[in-house]
Amino acid sequence: MSEIINVSWKNEPCYDIVIENSWDKLKSCLSEFDTAKRKVCIVTESNVGPHFATKIRTIFEDIFDKVIIFEFPAGEKSKNLDMISELYEALIKEHFDRNDMLAALGGGVTGDMTGFAAATYLRGIDFIQLPTSLLSQVDSSVGGKTGVDFKGYKNMVGAFKQPKLVYINTETLMTLGDREFLSGMGEVIKYGFIKDRLFLDWLKDNKDAIINKEHSVLEEMVAKSCDFKRVVVENDFTEKGERAHLNFGHTIGHSVEKAKNFELLHGECVAIGMAAALRISCDCGKVTEEDVAYGINLIKEFNLPVNTSIDIEEVYSGILNDKKMDSGKIKFILLYGLGNAYIDKNLTKEQIMNGIVYIGNED
Ligand SMILES: NC(=O)c1ccc[n+]([C@@H]2O[C@H](COP(=O)([O-])OP(=O)(O)OC[C@H]3O[C@@H](n4cnc5c(N)ncnc54)[C@H](O)[C@@H]3O)[C@@H](O)[C@H]2O)c1
Ligand SMILES: [Zn+2]
Repeated sequence: MSEIINVSWKNEPCYDIVIENSWDKLKSCLSEFDTAKRKVCIVTESNVGPHFATKIRTIFEDIFDKVIIFEFPAGEKSKNLDMISELYEALIKEHFDRNDMLAALGGGVTGDMTGFAAATYLRGIDFIQLPTSLLSQVDSSVGGKTGVDFKGYKNMVGAFKQPKLVYINTETLMTLGDREFLSGMGEVIKYGFIKDRLFLDWLKDNKDAIINKEHSVLEEMVAKSCDFKRVVVENDFTEKGERAHLNFGHTIGHSVEKAKNFELLHGECVAIGMAAALRISCDCGKVTEEDVAYGINLIKEFNLPVNTSIDIEEVYSGILNDKKMDSGKIKFILLYGLGNAYIDKNLTKEQIMNGIVYIGNED
């Protein structure tokens, strides 16, 4: 099975997301880009490069005029302007001009950095995404947000830049560590909560196949997730409304991430944040106790946490400092039944605290 999802941007057809379980179709997917006259730089990092860069280089050498590889040390610590500046230098040294391209080969860190360099080098050059982590395949490679961290502030500097192609080879997930993989499931489950109750049931029914990384189920799951993100992003390219729903679980999740000093992975914190948001939604009378129990169980089925020991007040003040505030009010994403999200700007401190208390203890 293979899937192609067409993404529009500002109501114009923009790029394809191709979901495959090999690199076999990558060459043909690039055929429309006149590659014979262009140079390409594969941007990758120290964990991913050793697995896939040689293969991609071989494919590219057949179709591009010249191929170079820029490899940086893996991890969020590299996602900064210093590393971007090293990338600019490599491109200048190899005489990259406006006609040349970048290819992001890696997880969300690589995609965000490569997209940002592509948005800014010579006022913008083309780039493609070859995402290799589950998080990057279902979330960060779609939607056109790019950027880097700045002086400890996450994603503080960035640009919108749409790729020319997102080519997802789900086979790359085989080398991804189990904890990273399950962390990506946090974002996958999120789509069910905010968009589609039936998708939650599908995840539950296919849990074993997903955890065992069975090909056809992985492809279907990644394709469904990309499509959820596509719909949200296409409906809201100015980020005024529906795109905020993607922050479900993230308001408390981000604050937990900081309070735990980034010991927990992003998707694990999102899982905890979703558990709190389910509780608050129920306290507001929008979902039933059965819905909460169903949601919590589903999160746990994928070995994701729904609670952790934290300082409750610290997590609350972390939320107040989060940049997702609107005119001084916290923009909270809650559920109106499983599968429907809405924005609530009127929660009281007590309501939020109840949500934090719910997740604030280790089992
Ligand atoms: N642009 C967006 O819309 C958006 C959305 C969500 C997250 N993000 C960003 O994405 C980043 C997180 O993404 P991530 O979790 O992919 O981080 P990441 O790129 O650091 O990858 C996570 C880990 O997995 C390793 N890895 C990736 N693919 C692998 C593979 N196939 N085999 C073995 N190891 C592999 C990486 O080396 C790294 O250690 C954050 O910087 C976040 O801000 C961006
Ligand atoms: Zn997230």
